[in-house]
Amino acid sequence: FLRMSELNLTDKVVLIREDLNVPIKDGKVTSDARLQASLPTIKMALEKGAAVIVCSHLGRPTEGNPEAVYSLAPVAEYLTEKLSSQLSTPVRLNSDYLTQGANVKSGEVVLLENVRFNDGEKKNDATLAKKYADLCDVFVMDAFGTAHRAQASTEGVTQAMRQADKTVCAGPLLAAELDALSLALETPAQPMLAIVGGSKVSTKLEVLHSLAEVCTQIIVGGGIANTFLAAQGHSVGASLYEADLLDTARDIMTKTEILLPEYVVVADKNDIDFADFTGSLQKATATIKSVDAIGDNDMILDIAPESAKRLADAIINAKTILWNGPVGVFEVDAFGQGTQILATAVRDSDGFSIAGGGDTLAAIDKYQVADGVSYMSTGGGAFLEFVEGKVLPAVAALQIDA
Ligand code: 3PG
Repeated sequence: FLRMSELNLTDKVVLIREDLNVPIKDGKVTSDARLQASLPTIKMALEKGAAVIVCSHLGRPTEGNPEAVYSLAPVAEYLTEKLSSQLSTPVRLNSDYLTQGANVKSGEVVLLENVRFNDGEKKNDATLAKKYADLCDVFVMDAFGTAHRAQASTEGVTQAMRQADKTVCAGPLLAAELDALSLALETPAQPMLAIVGGSKVSTKLEVLHSLAEVCTQIIVGGGIANTFLAAQGHSVGASLYEADLLDTARDIMTKTEILLPEYVVVADKNDIDFADFTGSLQKATATIKSVDAIGDNDMILDIAPESAKRLADAIINAKTILWNGPVGVFEVDAFGQGTQILATAVRDSDGFSIAGGGDTLAAIDKYQVADGVSYMSTGGGAFLEFVEGKVLPAVAALQIDA
């Protein structure tokens, strides 16, 4: 595919699709890894003399969600600060671009408000995709983290640009991710171990199937571990798990060794306010329990240190480590020790380690282990699908006439 670095962008209006889907709390970005990773692309476009429009989704807004929660306004502020040496005006957040256009001049950066506020974005609506294409002369796909989604601002706009005979290309971040991951995964050194945690349970169980083919061992955490524990016949009390995926979990366990904790950290569900999950956990009591002694009101929220240390030994011995997702609610220290112990083992291992996903990067940041991680990807789901060998639709669209 064509790369942005090869193009002359003088006085061109360039629309860059980034993945700026970052955690935000009280109006402030709490983990900026994805934003940092997008800055060189935006700077390069400015240096090339372009008028720059940046777009992204943020979260998964649905009807009834207050738009303020999913506004990219904090990201616009962040970009303004980081690009101040190159910009004479602040990065403008534009909410009415579909009706009024982007109104951007060379040397300026406009950030389009969350594309998922637009009807048809997630359905990859062709009319919406054409409206995005109408905004620019050149479309740059740089959102590796969203390349697995065929949506109007990723795959759809690429097609619309082609139909209008306009240029589409890969941004430097997308190109770097594809180059690095292909290189690392072509022939992974064995034994290969994966750590798969987080709360997007159903999506990751599918991915585990594929990882089971290449990994000798898989450490699971979060809601996924609970589903595996339940599949083994343990009661998981009030924990998050998926009853309809127990057979899938059992099937995966026949293909590879799934490493599960014997001891976990639980909180009483009555102490948890689901509207303020992490806030309420700050005050909840963390209790270590055997997985054979989980009570009806117990919610499993972390791997206990004694079990995490056993899992850490497996990490130290692996030659390739793939990490996606924390194994507990690491944002709250009482439920973060499992993730911390595993993160430290990833850092200390001599194996080649690849980490991906917003929460994973936030954990790497929190426990300051980045210097020991061989490659950090900005992708979460996209990273896992790439690892599986799946074709990422937004990348495939770029490659059509490569
Ligand atoms: C991610 O965080 O994995 C990407 O930004 C994609 O988000 P999505 O899963 O809501 O499409």
